[in-house]
Amino acid sequence: MASYFRTTKSNAKIVALLKLLLLSYFASCFAGNLNQDFDITWGDGRAKILNNGNILTLSLDKASGSGVQSKNEYLFGKIDLQLKLVRGNSAGTVTAYYLSSQGTTHDEIDFEFLGNLSGDPYIVHTNVYTKGKGDREQQFYLWFDPTSDFHTYSILWNPQTIIFYVDGTPIRVFKNLESQGVPFPKNQPMRVYSSLWNADDWATRGGLVKTDWTQAPFTASLRNFRANACVWKSIKSSCNSGPNNSSTKPWLQELDSASEARLKWVQQNYMVYNYCADTKRFVQGLPLECTVNNTTT
Ligand SMILES: *[C@@H]1O[C@H](CO)[C@@H](O)[C@H](O)[C@H]1NC(C)=O
Ligand SMILES: *[C@@H]1O[C@H](CO)[C@@H](O)[C@H](O)[C@H]1NC(C)=O
Ligand SMILES: *[C@@H]1O[C@H](CO)[C@@H](O)[C@H](O)[C@H]1NC(C)=O
Ligand SMILES: *[C@@H]1O[C@H](CO)[C@@H](O)[C@H](O)[C@H]1NC(C)=O
Repeated sequence: MASYFRTTKSNAKIVALLKLLLLSYFASCFAGNLNQDFDITWGDGRAKILNNGNILTLSLDKASGSGVQSKNEYLFGKIDLQLKLVRGNSAGTVTAYYLSSQGTTHDEIDFEFLGNLSGDPYIVHTNVYTKGKGDREQQFYLWFDPTSDFHTYSILWNPQTIIFYVDGTPIRVFKNLESQGVPFPKNQPMRVYSSLWNADDWATRGGLVKTDWTQAPFTASLRNFRANACVWKSIKSSCNSGPNNSSTKPWLQELDSASEARLKWVQQNYMVYNYCADTKRFVQGLPLECTVNNTTT
């Protein structure tokens, strides 16, 4: 009897503890505690998580940049992150935010924000690597000043498509055209990375404008990280169960006609560079995905 009593009591304790753990887990999920989502990986103190995990700042000076990576690996998901980019004269600096797997045949989905002289426009540089090969750059101007406030940059990744979003507006789509012989990232889990570094050999007007180190340290800020995503743990995905539709798995959502129209608007008015139109660069012929029929069905 006594021992039975003790057991139930300790069971109750365990249940209470579990409840507490679960509660704190969900609370942190919704509050988006950057301490729980990211590790600072380089920069010797130049990357900082502040305000109880609400803000992450990256900084760059002449000696070093800085960077972070997500604790989790993901295989498909919708990743949202708010960024406020380096203000003033940010020429030569690059703030990167991307997904990447490991190894020489890695996959990667990139946002890179190329700084500029005060008042001159940032460029949003995007790329997709499959099996270690990139060379799929598309670049865009933004329709707002990305240094005066936070804006949301999202990567939607599922087995059929990759969509880049800025404040909910799609700017680029990379479809799965494996049936036409184009590799697509769908087997390698990826981490989320963000970093701030010097790239004045190429970033601003192709490397013409150099970083002005008298303005250092340069700082970019991150907040509201949200991974609506399948966490990859010990060779298993966290979301193989349940119905495969966008009501429970938002990364499965497709572009509706309004979003298609927004995408067209961005591509017509804000696109700076499109590798698929660069016949000078690809003298041997454009990459396969640029020439195959990728009409949506
Ligand atoms: C910087 O400003 C110049 C002049 O407006 C523009 O040509 C260039 O595309 C801008 N962005 C970058 C990253 O060079
Ligand atoms: C949903 O998709 C996953 C991954 O492709 C698959 O393993 C699972 O069986 C699917 N579930 C249903 C209910 O179709
Ligand atoms: C998703 O699947 C569930 C269960 O099959 C269904 O009840 C729901 O209506 C579906 N939602 C959409 C948006 O298709
Ligand atoms: C591309 O494929 C779509 C759907 O399969 C088809 O309707 C369209 O005619 C094709 N376009 C070309 C140029 O082959």
